[in-house]
Amino acid sequence: MSVGVKPLAYNSLWQLRNDTWSSLEESTTQLALADAQQRSVEQLVETVTGSLDILGSIERFWAFPGGQIFREVQRLFAAGQYDRLAAVVGRANRALVTESYRGGQAWDLRAEDDAYDRDSRPAKQFGSDRPYFEVLVVEDLTAEQENSLREELRRWRRPDDQFIYEIVVVPSFDEAVMAARLNFRLQACVVRRRFAHRSRHDSSLFAQFAGIDGADDLMEHTPDDRAQVLARTLAKIRPELDLYLMTEISVEDLAGRLSHHFRRIFHAREGSLELPLSILDGVAARYRSPFFNALRDYSHRPTGVFHALPISHGKSIVNSHWIRDMVDFYGLEIFLAETSATCGGLDSLLEPTGPLREAQQLAAETFGSRQTYFVTNGTSTGNKIVVQALVQPGDIVLVDRNCHQSHHYGLMLAGAMVSYLDAYPLNQYSMYGAVPLREIKRQLLALRRAGKLDRVKMLLLTNCTFDGIVYDVGRVMEECLAIKPDLVFLWDEAWFAFARFHPVSRPRTAMRAARTLAERMRLPEYRQRYDAQAEEVGAIDAADDEVLLRRRLTPDPARARVRVYSTQSTHKTLTSLRQGSMIHVWDQDFSQKVEATFHEAYMTHTSTSPNYQILASLDLGRRQAALEGFELVQKQIENAMRLRDAVDHHPLLSKYMRCLTTADLIPAEYRPTCIDQPLRSGLPNMIKAWDCDEFVLDPSRITIYIGATGIEGDSFKRRHLMDRYGVQINKTSRNTVLFMTTIGTSRSSVAYLIEVLVTIARDLEAQLADMSPAERATHEREVLRLTSPSAPLPDFSGFHPSFTDGHGLPTPEGDVRRAFYLSYSDSYCEYLTPDEVEQRVENGDQVVSTTYVTPYPPGYPVLVPGQVFSPEILSFMRSLDTPEIHGYRPDLGYRVYLDKALEIAATTRPAPRPDQAVLAATSEEATPEVSRPTAAARRRSSA
Ligand SMILES: Cc1ncc(COP(=O)(O)O)c(C=O)c1O
Repeated sequence: MSVGVKPLAYNSLWQLRNDTWSSLEESTTQLALADAQQRSVEQLVETVTGSLDILGSIERFWAFPGGQIFREVQRLFAAGQYDRLAAVVGRANRALVTESYRGGQAWDLRAEDDAYDRDSRPAKQFGSDRPYFEVLVVEDLTAEQENSLREELRRWRRPDDQFIYEIVVVPSFDEAVMAARLNFRLQACVVRRRFAHRSRHDSSLFAQFAGIDGADDLMEHTPDDRAQVLARTLAKIRPELDLYLMTEISVEDLAGRLSHHFRRIFHAREGSLELPLSILDGVAARYRSPFFNALRDYSHRPTGVFHALPISHGKSIVNSHWIRDMVDFYGLEIFLAETSATCGGLDSLLEPTGPLREAQQLAAETFGSRQTYFVTNGTSTGNKIVVQALVQPGDIVLVDRNCHQSHHYGLMLAGAMVSYLDAYPLNQYSMYGAVPLREIKRQLLALRRAGKLDRVKMLLLTNCTFDGIVYDVGRVMEECLAIKPDLVFLWDEAWFAFARFHPVSRPRTAMRAARTLAERMRLPEYRQRYDAQAEEVGAIDAADDEVLLRRRLTPDPARARVRVYSTQSTHKTLTSLRQGSMIHVWDQDFSQKVEATFHEAYMTHTSTSPNYQILASLDLGRRQAALEGFELVQKQIENAMRLRDAVDHHPLLSKYMRCLTTADLIPAEYRPTCIDQPLRSGLPNMIKAWDCDEFVLDPSRITIYIGATGIEGDSFKRRHLMDRYGVQINKTSRNTVLFMTTIGTSRSSVAYLIEVLVTIARDLEAQLADMSPAERATHEREVLRLTSPSAPLPDFSGFHPSFTDGHGLPTPEGDVRRAFYLSYSDSYCEYLTPDEVEQRVENGDQVVSTTYVTPYPPGYPVLVPGQVFSPEILSFMRSLDTPEIHGYRPDLGYRVYLDKALEIAATTRPAPRPDQAVLAATSEEATPEVSRPTAAARRRSSA
């Protein structure tokens, strides 16, 4: 490695490359000028050398400017031809900045400039609006061979090709892996037989990107085996890449053995035309957007509408005198695309057979599911559909109490017996983390002891949480399946759709984890692992709870079924109109057990007039994710890191604000790797943490701790960020604000945010300087209040026994639906002020909420229908000064059940289902503990 080149922080790579080209342009221009004026050039030569060192290691992974141009730049520099050097670098950088190279024209190095860079306009303005991509060729070629291959492929270009591409040639396995990690323009890779194992270049700068541990003995393999290992490695990093194999020998035999790794296998001498055609065809398959295309075609056809929807084809608007501004604002196209037709090239969302079905199938491929369903009313609806499809009244569902409200309502409607799980609290920041695996296992084992395991249907968790805590999805499922082999998992990935498109986060998505688990369970080694466990602890069904809690569990591969659902708000983190969401399914029993009920549930919650624009945007959002998801997510993470660095390293900002790190948000007990800042300490550490730790932090979410400003989170959001600077954020807590970066975040928007934060900090400094001693004391009190721990966040207290099922041993689950609907009778309910509730709780009475009580922020229900008030809940509620508390009326207080309602509830429990009856009869003697109302309570209830 050259002197002065620091090892790269993973997240700055794309920006580093762009910035280095820009600074190279600047320094070569100055160099040419200084040289012409015969001034000293020593300092500038050093700067240029530094930039060339960096680019020298990176450029070989990209087609443009690429090796040839870069070698010319080096030659001109070495020859002291600074004028020419500045011209070539300037052209190259302009082409990079304007993206004019995407036109795919060959560069004439001798030309002063090119038609397209003279105008500095993007490629599409030169008649070439075809999307551009790059193809990785892995083969050890000489420079001449490389050039002739490039020329040959260019010769095959046809005017009506849909896309244009250039090739990047790397000679070795490790460079192929680095290129896949670094070059987000790659869409395909051609593996040829002759490639080296290790790069000839000094790759120390990128060692962390190679990640080919365990492939050291690769050279001992046959070329085909090496090609296979490379294909597997590339598929792990970039599953979307189309892989091709070019071979000179026994192509038929190879096709039989390796075809599942490669899209096509060609004979080297015959493939020269087939290959370019296949490359274009592979990308075209992902580029398809059947529903969007169908809608666009339909919108341009003349129609006579004798149906609903006067707005269709803009008819009710274009002739109106009073709403013409509607067309001015939205444009006509969107109304041309408004229709209620389900035929004529279009499709019905409720029974798709045409383009919508195809669009959903493409989405399934892109998101790695077995089935994908589009949802036009957000993940709020997606969650209700999945729950209704799988859960019968009386089934037990384990759910994170801090989950989104749609789960609470969905489970209530489904009549589930809900068993709430407590996430670990982060009292210092007044927020919750995620639910530890130990807590989930503990509850499952308690249900097993009570003989109720057969009724446990589903585990429902949020991955990742609003604040960015990500589960080890595979491990949670594996260990739960060891206890309950047919458990169904619903992972609410409302905030995590993007994660599929980055190699580090992908393994922790529900769909990938499901596939990995199913594949692993088929391996003989897995069976051996299970047998070894059985040897040690005996049958899991009979093993001691403590033993099972302490160790990592392996399910019986012969019994466990992989049944996984994920709901994603495409609109939250990828491209889609608001409310565009998807349900992804990876359920081995779907067609046999669920498809019919899923269809009913889908019909229950889906409008018969779904919004076509939302559906088309989902189709396009999928296309974008399939073709540029990796690039966009990589940039999103880089932007997030830039924001973190800017806040933490700014002398003024860091006085008042601090980005919370993994160590702040995930207690050490859940991080066996002990890596406090996985992302900032390099890719290997990040991969290690994401492989091993129970929880990791999504780097794209940045929680900034603002306690030292003395400004409460909600006020910071509304008064400072939104009202004064138009900066929108979503979540706050008492002393934190959460900033999210998405694929729509640009470097400029990050810069603007920094500017705003610095201005707020400066204003604060100025105000502090002008404060009187009394004002200052008030401010300091406020800072002290915000930086001291508040009342601890309360755990779920428990359901009143009248709302438990009364069968078998008492366990925590409760019937929220009964508790919810009982309150429809006013005569069963009363309002109590907080003081009155407190008094009763102190007297030992059980006060029961009729409704969800949800303070916002933080936005989690502190009480659900049927839940008893606890001293901890009351103390927490007292400590809150949030503006909104849903389910609490400041004028009346809390709505609670009268004792007579609780007595009625206890005597009107539904009869056990036939399967429950058997269980109740076989479980140990179990009379549920129904609370005896106190004399005072009886008096109140009869009053
Ligand atoms: C975890 C979680 N799930 C589901 C939803 C609902 O998603 P949608 O807005 O797409 O209905 C939200 C919304 O914020 C959420 O945070």
